[in-house]
Amino acid sequence: MKYSYGRIGIMCLALLIVGTVAVASAQTQYPNLAPKELVIKRGFTKEALSCIECHGKKMPGILEGWRASRMAHAGISCYDCHVVEKTSPMASQCEGLKGTKIFISPMVSSKTCSRCHPQEVEQFLKSGHAELASGAVTSPERAGLSKLQFYYEGGGFMTQKKFTWTWGTPKEATNIERAARASGCQPCHGTKVELGPDNKPINETWPGGVGTIYPDGSIGTCSVCHERHTFSKTDARKPEACGACHLGPDHPNIEIYMESKHGQKFQVSGDEWAWDSPPEAWEPGDYLAPTCAVCHMSGIGDLATTHNVQERLKWDLMHKKSVVRSGNRGDGVKGEQLMLKVCANCHGPSHVKSQRDMLDNSVGLYNKYWDGAVKMKAELKEKGLLGKDPWQDGFQELMYYLWHHVGRRARQGAAMNAPDYAHWHGFFQVFQVYQDMENIYNKRLKTGKVEEYSPVISSAPY
Ligand code: HEC
Ligand code: HEC
Ligand code: HEC
Ligand code: HEC
Ligand code: HEC
Ligand code: HEC
Ligand code: HEC
Ligand code: HEC
Repeated sequence: MKYSYGRIGIMCLALLIVGTVAVASAQTQYPNLAPKELVIKRGFTKEALSCIECHGKKMPGILEGWRASRMAHAGISCYDCHVVEKTSPMASQCEGLKGTKIFISPMVSSKTCSRCHPQEVEQFLKSGHAELASGAVTSPERAGLSKLQFYYEGGGFMTQKKFTWTWGTPKEATNIERAARASGCQPCHGTKVELGPDNKPINETWPGGVGTIYPDGSIGTCSVCHERHTFSKTDARKPEACGACHLGPDHPNIEIYMESKHGQKFQVSGDEWAWDSPPEAWEPGDYLAPTCAVCHMSGIGDLATTHNVQERLKWDLMHKKSVVRSGNRGDGVKGEQLMLKVCANCHGPSHVKSQRDMLDNSVGLYNKYWDGAVKMKAELKEKGLLGKDPWQDGFQELMYYLWHHVGRRARQGAAMNAPDYAHWHGFFQVFQVYQDMENIYNKRLKTGKVEEYSPVISSAPY
C-alpha cells in the first residue's frame, strides 16, 4: 500500500459518496455498482442531471455502463466529458440541447481526461500507443503503406484508378477505396478524424483506435483499454483488454500469452484473483502470475505504474530488423533493467538470466536470417531481377512474411515464453520461408529471369 496522498484523498471522496448513497451490492466485478432503482442526484448540477435523465430514456445502455463506473460515484458525468466550448472544432448540439448555450461532442480524446488525470495522459503520449500508432496509418513517410491501404486492399486496382502517391489518404479515394483501411487498420491504430459541415465525423474516420488524432489536434482514445462507459482499471488489468488488437498472424500476443505458463495460471486460477486493489497496491498475492498489464504497465515491487508501454522494453520486435530501442521508440538500455525488475518479484536470478539470454539469442538468430535476405535482395536488384510490383513478386512477398509474420512470431514467442509460437509458428517457418527465398534467388541468378507468375500462394500458412 503505497499510493500517494492525492490518491487517498480521491479514494476517500469516492468512498464517502458511495457510502452515503449506495447500498452494498453483491456485484464483485463492479463492487460499487449502484442498485438499479437508485436515482443518483447528489453532486450533479441541474445541467448535468438533464443529460443523465434524458439519456437514461434515449440511450439506456450508455447510462447503465456509466452507472457501473467509479467515476459516476465520484460525481463525474456526461457533462464533464462531452460538453465542449462553442468554439471547439468538434462542437455540435444534440436534439435535447437545441436552443441552449451548451455544446457537446460525441468525440472524447485523451485531452478531456487530462483535466483530471494529467499524469496518465502525459505517459501515454510518450508511448507507441499515441502518435506512432496513428502515424503507422497516416504519416508522410509511409506512402508505401498508403498504397497498400488504398490501391491493393482498397481495390483501386479493380477500377484501374491512378492515385497520386504523395502521403496519407489520396484525395481521389472514394469511401469504397477507403473501406479496407476503415474496417481494418483504423479501429486498432486510429487515424485523423475528418469533419463534415455540422462538425460531425465523416468518411468512417471515427470511432477509431488507440492513436486517433482528433480535430483539435489532441491524440489518443483512452477507452480502447478502459472501455466506455465503465472505464474500469480492473478490466484493463486483464489480458482481454489488450487482446482486442494484439492478436492474429502478425502479432499474436494474446495467443502467446495464453500458451505461456503465465497464461496457463491465469486461465486456471484468474477467477479467484483480487483484481480491484487500489493503484500501486496491486501486487503479487493479489495475482499469482503476471498479465500483460503487470509486465508492461502496472506498479509492482518498487516500480511505479506507467501508461507508457515502451518504458520496459529493450528490443524493437516489430520492425524488419530488431535493434535496441532508442529515440521515439524508447530507451532500450533502461527498458531492459525495468523489465528484469518485474520478473525478479517472482523468479530467482538464474531463471531470469536464462530467459533474458534466450530472448537476446533468439533476436540474434532472427537478425541473421534478415541480414541474409537483405543481401539476396540487393544482389537481385543490382542484376535487374526483382519484380516491379512487390505483391506479385514471389521473392518480395516471402520477404514480407519473413519479418512481418513468421519473424515477429519467433521473436515475440521467445520474448513472452511461448514455445509453440517461438518454434512451430516461428523459427520453423522462418527457416522454411528463407529456404524458399533462396530457391527463387538461385533460380533467378541461373536463368537471368523473373518468374512469369508468383510462385507464392499468398494465403498459405504464413
Ligand atoms: C469519463 C468521461 C465520460 C463520461 C462521464 C461519459 N462519456 Fe460518453 N464517451 C466517452 C468516451 C471516451 C467516448 C469515446 C469517444 C471517442 O472514441 O472519441 C464516449 C462516447 C460516447 C458516445 C458516442 C459513442 C456511441 O456509442 O454512440 C455517446 C453517445 C456518449 N459517449 C454518451 C454519453 C452519455 C449519455 C453519458 C452520461 C450518461 C456519457 N457519455 C458519459 C467519455 C465519457
Ligand atoms: C431532452 C433529451 C436530451 C438531453 C437533455 C440531452 N440529450 Fe444528448 N441526445 C439526445 C438525443 C435524442 C440524441 C440522439 C439524436 C441527436 O444526436 O440529436 C442525443 C445525442 C447525444 C450525443 C451523441 C451525438 C452523436 O453525434 O452521436 C451525445 C454525446 C450527447 N447527446 C450528449 C449529451 C450531453 C452531454 C447532454 C447534457 C449536457 C445531453 N446530451 C442532453 C437527447 C438529449
Ligand atoms: C472531471 C474530472 C475527471 C475527468 C474529466 C475524467 N476523470 Fe477519470 N476519474 C476521476 C475521479 C475523481 C476518479 C476516482 C474515482 C474513484 O476512485 O472512486 C476517476 C477514476 C478513473 C479511473 C479508475 C477507475 C477504477 O476502476 O478505479 C479510470 C480508469 C479513469 N478515471 C479514466 C478516465 C478516462 C479514460 C477519462 C477520459 C475519457 C477520464 N477518466 C476523465 C475524475 C475524472
Ligand atoms: C486499440 C488497439 C490496442 C489495444 C487495445 C492495445 N494496444 Fe498495444 N499497440 C497497439 C498498436 C497499434 C501498437 C503499435 C504502435 C506503433 O505504431 O508503434 C501497439 C504497441 C504496443 C506495444 C509496443 C510499444 C511501443 O511503444 O512500441 C506494447 C508493449 C503494447 N502495445 C502493449 C499493450 C498492452 C499491454 C495492452 C493492454 C493493456 C495494449 N497494448 C492494448 C494497439 C493496441
Ligand atoms: C487487429 C489490430 C490491427 C490491425 C487491423 C492493423 N494493425 Fe498494425 N499493428 C497492430 C499492433 C498491435 C501493432 C504492434 C505490433 C508489435 O508490437 O509487434 C501493429 C504494428 C504496425 C506497424 C509497425 C509500427 C510502426 O509504427 O511502424 C505498422 C506500420 C502497422 N501496424 C500498420 C498497419 C496498417 C497500415 C494496417 C492496415 C493495412 C494495420 N496496421 C492493421 C494492430 C493492428
Ligand atoms: C493499453 C491500455 C491502456 C490505455 C490505452 C489506457 N490505460 Fe489507464 N490503465 C490501464 C491499466 C492496465 C491500469 C491499471 C494499472 C494498475 O494495475 O494499477 C490503468 C489505470 C488507470 C487509472 C487508475 C490509476 C490511478 O492511479 O488511479 C486511470 C485514472 C487511467 N488508467 C486513466 C487513463 C487515461 C486518462 C488514459 C488515456 C490517456 C488511459 N488510462 C489509457 C491501461 C490503459
Ligand atoms: C512475463 C511478462 C510479460 C507478459 C505477461 C506479457 N509480456 Fe509482452 N513482453 C514481455 C517482454 C520481456 C518483452 C520483450 C521486451 C524486450 O524487448 O526486452 C515483451 C514484448 C512485447 C511486445 C513487443 C513490442 C515490440 O517491440 O514489438 C508487445 C506488443 C507485447 N509484449 C504485448 C503484450 C501483450 C498484449 C501481452 C498480454 C496478452 C503481453 N505482452 C504479456 C513481457 C511480458
Ligand atoms: C507475479 C509473479 C510473476 C512474474 C512477475 C513473472 N512470473 Fe514467470 N512465472 C510465474 C509463475 C507462477 C510461473 C509458473 C511456474 C510453474 O511452472 O508452476 C511462471 C513461469 C515462468 C516460465 C516458465 C518456466 C517455468 O519456470 O516453469 C518462464 C519462462 C517465466 N515464468 C519467465 C518470466 C519472465 C521472463 C518474467 C519477467 C519478464 C516473469 N516470468 C515474470 C510468476 C511470475
